Amino acid sequence: MEIKVARSAGFCFGVKRALEMVDKALEVNDSPIYSLGPLIHNPAVVQDLEARGLQQIEQIDGISRGRLVIRSHGVGPQIMQQAVAQHLEIIDATCPFVKNVQELAVMLKKEGYQLIIVGEREHAEVKGVLDSVGGQALVIEHPSQLDPKCLTAKVGLVSQTTQDIQSLNRVITTIVSHTKECRIFNTICLATLQRQQEASRLSREVDLMIVVGGKNSANTRHLAAICRESGTVTYQVESAADLQADWFSQAKLVGVTAGASTPDDQILSVVEKINFLGGNGVVDQNNVNQNEVAEQTSVKTEESIGYDWPEDRFGELRQGQIIEAKVVLVRDDAAFVDIGGKSDLTITLDELTTEPVLSAKEVVKAGDIIKVMVIKAGDEEKIKLSKRLYELEKVWVDLEEALAKQTPLEGTGMEVVKGGMSVRVKGVRAFMPASQSGLGPTNLSELVGKSFPVTVLELDRAKHRLLVSRRALLQAEKEKAEAEFYNTAKEGERKTGKVTRITDFGAFIDLGGGVEGLLHISEMSWLRVKSPREILNEGDSVEVLITKINPEAKRISLSLKQIQPHPWDLASKNFVEGGIYQGTVVKLESFGAFVNLAPGVDGLVHISQIADRRINKPDEVLNVGDQVQVKVLKLDTANRKISLSIKQVEADKDDEAVSNFIKGQDSAGVSQNLGEILKSE
Ligand code: F3S
Repeated sequence: MEIKVARSAGFCFGVKRALEMVDKALEVNDSPIYSLGPLIHNPAVVQDLEARGLQQIEQIDGISRGRLVIRSHGVGPQIMQQAVAQHLEIIDATCPFVKNVQELAVMLKKEGYQLIIVGEREHAEVKGVLDSVGGQALVIEHPSQLDPKCLTAKVGLVSQTTQDIQSLNRVITTIVSHTKECRIFNTICLATLQRQQEASRLSREVDLMIVVGGKNSANTRHLAAICRESGTVTYQVESAADLQADWFSQAKLVGVTAGASTPDDQILSVVEKINFLGGNGVVDQNNVNQNEVAEQTSVKTEESIGYDWPEDRFGELRQGQIIEAKVVLVRDDAAFVDIGGKSDLTITLDELTTEPVLSAKEVVKAGDIIKVMVIKAGDEEKIKLSKRLYELEKVWVDLEEALAKQTPLEGTGMEVVKGGMSVRVKGVRAFMPASQSGLGPTNLSELVGKSFPVTVLELDRAKHRLLVSRRALLQAEKEKAEAEFYNTAKEGERKTGKVTRITDFGAFIDLGGGVEGLLHISEMSWLRVKSPREILNEGDSVEVLITKINPEAKRISLSLKQIQPHPWDLASKNFVEGGIYQGTVVKLESFGAFVNLAPGVDGLVHISQIADRRINKPDEVLNVGDQVQVKVLKLDTANRKISLSIKQVEADKDDEAVSNFIKGQDSAGVSQNLGEILKSE
C-alpha cells in the first residue's frame, strides 16, 4: 500500500497568520487573552492554546479587561463595537479573504442589490458577513433552499470562503435564470479552491481517501464531500486514533489530504499510522500537483532566457545581504525566484510586501527582477528571502526624512489597542496614542479601516518603533480654518454646522475645518430645556445663528432659538380677546393661577377671576395640573401677557342659556321663571 499526500494539505495562510498573532500575544502576560469561539476548528490545537493561556469564550458580555482575539472567521461590526465599548484590546486575526467578503457584501447592499450569501447559516464566518449588512441577506447552501419568488430583479452574491465550488455553481445557475441583473463574486478563497481541486484530482487516482481535520471544520467537511463525489471511499478523521485497520485491507494506493486548520504534525501522525497499518511510505508527493509543476518548469525555461546569473551562489549568501532575484512563477500565496542556485527559492506572501494584499500576483509577475534581503542563510532548505524587509529598510529612510521635514504621510487605522491605535504607515505598523488621534476625545474604532494623514512624532529604526500623530495636522488645519473664519464670519450670520460634542451646558458645533462654536443650553429653544440631548445629538447637522464672535478669546456664541419663531409671535394668531380656550394650571400664587395655553404661552387668572364667589387662596378650588376652560380678557402680545378668567366662562354659559330661553319663549309664547331656567341648565 502506497500513500500520496496532497501538497496543499495543512494550515492555510489565514490560519497560520491567526496562530502567529496569538503566539505573539501569549508571549506578553500582562492581561487575560480571550478567543471568541475556538481559534481554529481543531480540538488538539485549541487544547494546546488553552493550556498556554488562551481562554475560549462564547460571548463578550461582562468582560471588561483584557485582549480579545478575533479569529480568522471574523465578526460583524456589532461585536467589534461592543468590544471597544468594553475597553477590550482587539487582536484582529480576521483572514483578509474573509474581510474581503464582508466588504463586498456591504458594497453590494449599498448599491441596492438583494444580497445572497452562499454558505452555512450557522458558520461563524457567515454570521459575521450577515452582521456586516445588518442581517439583510438570504443565506443558502443549496438551490433547494431558494424560493425564486423571493428574488428581486437585482441580485448580488458572495460565498463563504470555504464553500465547495460545486454547490456554489449550482446556486449560481439557479439564480441567474430568475433575475435580470446578477453580480456574482466567487469569494471562495484561493487556498480552499486549490485544496479542493487537488483533493478532487487525488481522490480520482487513489483507492481510498483519508481527510484529516476537525469534525466541526466546514472546509474539511467540504473536502471529504468532494472526494466522495468522485466515487472514492473517503473517511474523515480528526487524528491517527480514528483510523481503523479494516479500511485499508483492500487499498493499494491511499490519498491523504487535510483541512486548513490541521497542523503538519497531525497529518504526519496519520501518515505514520497508515504506514504502521501496512503502508510502504509516502510516494510521489510532489507529483500530486503535476500540472502546477509542469507550469513552473515551462515558465522558468521560457523566462530565464537573457538573464545570466553568476555561478551557484547559495553558499555565498550572508544574512542581511541585499541581492537580486528573478521571479519565475507567482501563485497567490507565494512567488518562486531564481537567484542563480541549484533550484528556485520561495518567498511567501507575507514576505513579499509591506502592504496588506490578498495575492502575490498583486505584487510581482513572472519575469520581474526584484531586490530582496537574505533573512536566513545556510543550506538551500534554510535560505529565507524577504522583499518586504528590503522595502522596509528603504521605508525607514523615508520615515526619517518625513520626521525631519514633518511631511504628512498617509496612515490607515488598523486596530484599537491599549492607549491608542495601531496605524499602517508606508507598510510599517506604527502606534498612535489616543491623545494624538484627534483634536478632542476621538472614537478610535471609527478610524479603523480609514485612511488619514499623519506626521511622524518619534521613531527608533533599530527597534522598529514608530510613533505618529493625526492631531498635529488637524490642529494646523484648524488654525488655518479659524483664521479664515475670523476674517470673514459676521455676527448675525447663519451657518450650518455639525454637532461634535454635547455637555450639560450646551453643544459644540463644528462650523467647518474644526472651528467650533458653543450653542448654550439657554439658546437652544424658547421653551425650557432640561438637557441639550432633548434637542440635539452628536453628528446632527444644524443651522445656527452667530450671536457673538470674540477672536481674541477664540470664542463663538451661537443660537438656535433666535432663528425660530417665538411662541408669543404665534399667540396673536392663535388667541383672541373674548375667546374661550382649554388650558392647564401650571402654577399657583397667592394672587392667582398661571394657566398654560400653548407651549411657551402662559396666562394669568387673577384670584378674583377664578370663581363666582369670594375665595382667599387659589388652591381652594384649583390644583396644579387641572384642565380648565378660560376666557381671554386681555391679550397683550407686545408685553407677552394674557389675562384670563375662569368664572367668566361660566357666566357666559349662563348668559347664553338665558338668551336662548328668551328666544324660545318669544317664538313659542311660553313663560318660565329665571330660577327654573338656571336649574334646567
Ligand atoms: Fe483565510 Fe482561506 Fe484560510 S479564507 S482562513 S486562507 S481557508
